[in-house]
Amino acid sequence: MNNTSDAHRLDGRVALVSGGARGVGLAISQTLAAQGAKVVVADAGGAIDGSDTDPAIAQAVATELGDNAVAFTESIADAGAAQAAVALANEAFGGLDILVNNAAILRDGFIFKSDPTDFDAVLKTNLAGAWYLTNAATPLMRQNAKDDRGGEPYDWGRVVNITSTAGFYGNFGQSSYASAKSGMLGLMRTTAMDLARAGITCNAVAPFAATRVTDTIVPANDEQATYKERALKVSPNHVAMVVAWLCSPAGQTINGQLFGVRGREVFLFSQPRPVATVVRDDADWDVGALSAAAAENFTPLYTDLKTDLEVFNTDPKV
Ligand SMILES: NC(=O)c1ccc[n+]([C@@H]2O[C@H](COP(=O)([O-])OP(=O)(O)OC[C@H]3O[C@@H](n4cnc5c(N)ncnc54)[C@H](O)[C@@H]3O)[C@@H](O)[C@H]2O)c1
Repeated sequence: MNNTSDAHRLDGRVALVSGGARGVGLAISQTLAAQGAKVVVADAGGAIDGSDTDPAIAQAVATELGDNAVAFTESIADAGAAQAAVALANEAFGGLDILVNNAAILRDGFIFKSDPTDFDAVLKTNLAGAWYLTNAATPLMRQNAKDDRGGEPYDWGRVVNITSTAGFYGNFGQSSYASAKSGMLGLMRTTAMDLARAGITCNAVAPFAATRVTDTIVPANDEQATYKERALKVSPNHVAMVVAWLCSPAGQTINGQLFGVRGREVFLFSQPRPVATVVRDDADWDVGALSAAAAENFTPLYTDLKTDLEVFNTDPKV
């Protein structure tokens, strides 16, 4: 990274990056290490659907990063493994300051054709895994805050949830993945609230980046085909830079927010709030009256059914 002042460095911090050995997670591990953090690269090394795990993937990344990194190779889709990952950070580097919940798998299929075991596996890794790690990491992070780790006032604690626009736009055949990714937004908001008093922030980032996952997109229409072609030009390093910014001292006052990153474009997303209200308290308030009020007040504001790939298919700034 260039043009980064000392005020944005992460010296002294310890980070745990789930799924930190490939794609977006690898870029995050490398960038946080380059910024001065010690990194636990927590990656089981499986295929996109989570099968065929391989510990050598994370071990190779940790070796490449040298003394500043250590590999954790168990699946984080398990509460005990999440505890063990946090314990490893503590043993290897003396604490934990930054948690990036990035690990995810995909098992796509139309809702009317999907197998419940695939839904369970996706929710377990993409959402429960993030919850387990946050649950395991935050007692230590709260203690850090009490101890003023890194100086007073405490400002090292960060949780970043890597979500997806699929979670709030939706996409064909991604009911499991989208369920998990929108669940990460609720997890992010509540973690932000639960930890605000300790000075620990939690935010979410929806990436767009060329990874093995982008490579496997099967376009459902021309707009999605254009999206794929353009997405394959976008480096995951841009996502990592935004994560590093949120983890830096500059991120201390940013809490509970949802960002998107597509190359050199960084988005701040709105979060669902009422956009229209109808209220009737008279005796005539029945389905017919509701229908008429909705036609007038809601219909013009209904959200279209465009997928995330169709909305973000403009030429990226690479
Ligand atoms: N690439 C994109 O354009 C894009 C778009 C939207 C969201 N995302 C999100 O970004 C994150 C990274 O995606 P990516 O494209 O780099 O995917 P990727 O498949 O290249 O990397 C994911 C990594 O997570 C690891 N992982 C999966 N399950 C694990 C588990 N149970 N325990 C430990 N490690 C596990 C995998 O081994 C892999 O190395 C994901 O959360 C994904 O949903 C990516």
